[in-house]
Amino acid sequence: MTNAPLMPNVHGIFDPATWTVTYVVHQGPNSAAAIIDSVLDYDPKSGRTRTHSAEKVIAYVREHSLKVEWILETHAHADHLTAAPYLKQALGGRIGIGRQITAVQNVFKDIFNLESEFRPDGSQFDALFQDGEQVSIGNLSATVLAVPGHTPACIAYQIGDAVFVGDTLFMPDVGTARCDFPGGDAKTLYASVRRLLSLPPQTRLFMCHDYPPNNRPIKFESTVAEQRASNIHVRDGINEAQFVEMRTKRDATLDMPVLILPAVQINIRAGQMPPREANGTSYVKIPLNAL
Ligand SMILES: [Fe+2]
Repeated sequence: MTNAPLMPNVHGIFDPATWTVTYVVHQGPNSAAAIIDSVLDYDPKSGRTRTHSAEKVIAYVREHSLKVEWILETHAHADHLTAAPYLKQALGGRIGIGRQITAVQNVFKDIFNLESEFRPDGSQFDALFQDGEQVSIGNLSATVLAVPGHTPACIAYQIGDAVFVGDTLFMPDVGTARCDFPGGDAKTLYASVRRLLSLPPQTRLFMCHDYPPNNRPIKFESTVAEQRASNIHVRDGINEAQFVEMRTKRDATLDMPVLILPAVQINIRAGQMPPREANGTSYVKIPLNAL
């Protein structure tokens, strides 16, 4: 007998416009499924949204006759809009995110001076998860791992031998995510990364993004062993002080993500657009000199 963990099927769909990977996790045809970190296409020049990326997810789910139970977020993304409400309408399922999303909502409610009806209590989501919580997806069980640092609300989902790490780690040749958004903290991210890298060496790690250097093909799966051996920011032997110094210096050189303003305003609402104004149109705001 073996105690090897379940190996769920993991299907990644890469969005070249935002370098994001959406995952569908399941156990084969007709099984229950979870969708992790979906993308709603958004053109910042026109303010138009499209659902081409979401349609790819829907097509995969239908092709395999999957029953979507959860539409999960690892955090409130700053570089793309979530398609969670669109997918929920098309496929069913509940939208879940980390409980600390309320901290993120509180910060951005002030920055964007949101309408008084906006409640920074996470109620826009169907479920708020805390560290260690078990979330059932049919016969699969996801364990929620709090991994703050990139944002205070970041969580990873451990499903069998697979962990969906969100924006804690990138591929070994890319490193780690920035920590300079409101509520981010490099020291905290270091601890979160070490938590993930203390999992068994063969654990499969699935990134939320890939930004391949040197014309390398897109890749979004690695293992704990690979990350510990060769992650350029946090491989074994790099201590907390070295990481924090590197991360802080590097973050000071980074531009804000192109979509941060619309993405945050929509993602903290679980993907719903801001309330329509009297003319029937929904707007996002641009705060001047606030970020
Ligand atoms: Fe992110």
